[in-house]
Amino acid sequence: MTQERVASAADIPAGEVRVVQCGARSLAVSNVDGTLYAIDNRCTHDNGPLGEGTLRGDRIICPRHGAAFDARTGRVLTLPAVRSVHSYPVTVDGDEVYIDCEGGRAP
Ligand code: FES
Repeated sequence: MTQERVASAADIPAGEVRVVQCGARSLAVSNVDGTLYAIDNRCTHDNGPLGEGTLRGDRIICPRHGAAFDARTGRVLTLPAVRSVHSYPVTVDGDEVYIDCEGGRAP
């Protein structure tokens, strides 16, 4: 497992989602009630940037056409997207956030 530091935890407050770069990947990192989760930043409908969307509870709403994804697993929840995205293991050490960019898994 190769982990890369991607952010300070303070930069991703509870209830927010941010775009981070992890190796060659762009990821959407969410803070769901104090726990951080990472999924692909690219919506499977038409490549919308999920990390620029809205976090509602544990759902990320795509900013382009409103598809919802589970912020924890990447599972697609609503149309117009029909395919899920991958999630990535997140580790927090103090204020440092690390992600295993190659550890993506399907929901
Ligand atoms: S690009 Fe995400 S819903 Fe269309």
